[in-house]
Amino acid sequence: MIRSSELDRGFMREVMAIPGGENLIKCWSCGTCAATCLVRRYDPTFNPRLILRKAGMGMRQEVLSSREIWLCSACDACYPRCPQEIHISEVMKAIRTIAIAEGYEAPGPFAEVDTALCSGCAVCTRACPYGAIERQPVLVNGEERMVAQVDHTLCMHCGVCVAACPSGSITLEDYANDELIARMGAGGWLEEGSYQQGEATEPRILAFVCQWSMRSDAEWATLDAMQSDSLRIVNLPCSGRVDPGMILLALSQGADGVLVAGCSEGECHYKRGTYLGRSKVALLDTVLAQMGIQPGRVRFVELGAFDRGALPGLIAEMSAALKQPAVTVA
Ligand code: FES
Repeated sequence: MIRSSELDRGFMREVMAIPGGENLIKCWSCGTCAATCLVRRYDPTFNPRLILRKAGMGMRQEVLSSREIWLCSACDACYPRCPQEIHISEVMKAIRTIAIAEGYEAPGPFAEVDTALCSGCAVCTRACPYGAIERQPVLVNGEERMVAQVDHTLCMHCGVCVAACPSGSITLEDYANDELIARMGAGGWLEEGSYQQGEATEPRILAFVCQWSMRSDAEWATLDAMQSDSLRIVNLPCSGRVDPGMILLALSQGADGVLVAGCSEGECHYKRGTYLGRSKVALLDTVLAQMGIQPGRVRFVELGAFDRGALPGLIAEMSAALKQPAVTVA
């Protein structure tokens, strides 16, 4: 129970003074944001309405020290539905800015740049859906160079920049290139021989699965139980993290097919991750066809809120298609 003497009446003004936070005063606390929140579907303890309400009431310490302020993935699914047209992720960003200024640490993980490897090409600054990466002058080995720097208040750890970086200078904890390649089974599962080369009895499929596209632990458990000689599952922070180079590596080493599963368009937690993932797979499929490689060996599937439990069936469908001499996957 909070006593009125513990409330900081100036907190609302403090939030509103930061660009993006000015709409806090417009919140009616109607709960439309909570009803449409994509994060809340997975973590019912996250309630954007409640955070804004507490901030408006002046519950400064409770808001700044809460883990919830870091959970908003700024997907902006709530924004078009808010009757007051409050850009809620911007208000969250303003609150987080105050939290960081007060010494609270963002939990991360964040994209990290190896400045010695960064060429300053700025591909990541254009790829980041949140504008979290800027080129800045940094002293590298005694020489001032323009290199990518990540703003921790903005980074949502989607991994899109890691996949886009041509110099391999960006990493993301748990989803760095070498970690993903190891989970793909390089040096092990990947090299056990493919069905197409007559070395396996079933088509061998590598599936990259967006962490948000499975709605429950039970769905993950079902997928985990399916892993076998013919199926390998690698989870991604978002389908936008998928790296075409890794797909080619898998196909060249022994996978018959690569399936990428992402959230449905409009449900991606990172704004345009689904669009990026689907586009990369579509482009790769076209390039492979131009190289004379049979179509259908890479496929992107979207899993929406009403597609619970659909992935095992889609994997089985792809496996059946890969057994056909001329593969055509709709
Ligand atoms: Fe699932 Fe982006 S978060 S595809």
